[in-house]
Amino acid sequence: MDLVETFRRRRAVEGPVFWLDSDLVVLDPRVAAAVNRANFADFTLNPSVGDQLRGRRGALVDWRDVRAAWLPRIRELTEPEHLRALAERMDRILSSRLDTPLDLVWLSYETAVRSLVPLVIADLDAKDNAILARDLIAKVATLLDRPAPLSIVAQARAGAMVRRRIKRRAAGPGRADLLDPIARELLGVLGIGRAVEATTAMLTAITGPPGSAAASVLFELSRRPEWQERLGDELAAATDLCTAPQSRAPVTTRFVKEVLRMWSPPLLLNRRVRTAVSVEGVELRPGQQYVTCPYLVHHDETRLPDHATFDPDRWLADPTFDYVPFGWAPTTCLGAGIGIAQLILWCRLLTTRYRVTTNRPSRMTMLASPTPHDFRGTVTSR
Ligand code: HEM
Repeated sequence: MDLVETFRRRRAVEGPVFWLDSDLVVLDPRVAAAVNRANFADFTLNPSVGDQLRGRRGALVDWRDVRAAWLPRIRELTEPEHLRALAERMDRILSSRLDTPLDLVWLSYETAVRSLVPLVIADLDAKDNAILARDLIAKVATLLDRPAPLSIVAQARAGAMVRRRIKRRAAGPGRADLLDPIARELLGVLGIGRAVEATTAMLTAITGPPGSAAASVLFELSRRPEWQERLGDELAAATDLCTAPQSRAPVTTRFVKEVLRMWSPPLLLNRRVRTAVSVEGVELRPGQQYVTCPYLVHHDETRLPDHATFDPDRWLADPTFDYVPFGWAPTTCLGAGIGIAQLILWCRLLTTRYRVTTNRPSRMTMLASPTPHDFRGTVTSR
């Protein structure tokens, strides 16, 4: 039995907050929000691993300052020209995979993450791109429970490359990407070690959920020809989709929101307790762990009796249930807007430009994220 199923059964018997060995499992969204807020009330960053080894502490920096420096860049990267470039990169990847049998989970991850990388580092040359690609491939393989080639070596080489890139950017001209505020605004306070860790955290964040969500979108589309047609009609007619994807494609937006409800990635958010927490009847000590699960919040039969039904039109009414595909403050996903825009653009490619013939898998496997089981097929041009 997978862990999520264990959680579901225990929730039915014991309620939404319970201990599993030494971890507290928190499936009540209100309690999860309170615990997360209390745990990160002090969000001072630890010294980098390098500084810890050298016994150095470094300046005190709050992670909120790093998030705040990223936010204006994220807004800039959601502007039409950047979304158009994102769509073009996804298009190029799909067009290079035509007419050949494919693992569609892998294709979804690869398309999502490779097209997002330039948002993090805009000016990678072919050599550094290849270094990063090896690390990302190893990480995706691990997420998908597949043999991962030499992941520690790939990770170390990618870390060294990011370090070089930060130093070069700090001394050179700015670019519209997420490396820029790290290298040109925060390097002085962060120090190079934490600057590398922050950039790597961003690269890790784009490696998992966006690819998983893209695979789940393709999974649901391939099982639902009627929705494929509805989305195709809307997206073929939508002019200038990149200007405001959500308002220009409301049906597709509902579809994407429902996919993120049904199949929220990642399945579990594990957090180490940073400070003594005493809220909502929960008592936690530093060093312990708590686990939350947006997926099970979205599949709570007491709050949403038809939780197992895939119904994008439920979003026509305001939801009466908790919807947390991007987690809880103050660590909520920074790229939610870009993530949703990317999935809408993905839907447009899949329903208007390409045709994906699939083996129509019937079930998901619960890995790090919900993953369509044995999902294969072929992409052709329309
Ligand atoms: C549909 C796509 C995506 C989904 C479902 C998703 C989901 C999530 C979730 C569940 C978290 C954990 C939140 C928490 O700790 O409570 C997270 C964190 C994060 N995500 Fe996303 N994400 C997506 C796309 C993106 C994109 C495109 C970016 C960047 C451009 C991004 C950047 C981040 C970052 C930086 C964090 C860490 C936030 C922090 O610790 O302060 N995500 N994401």
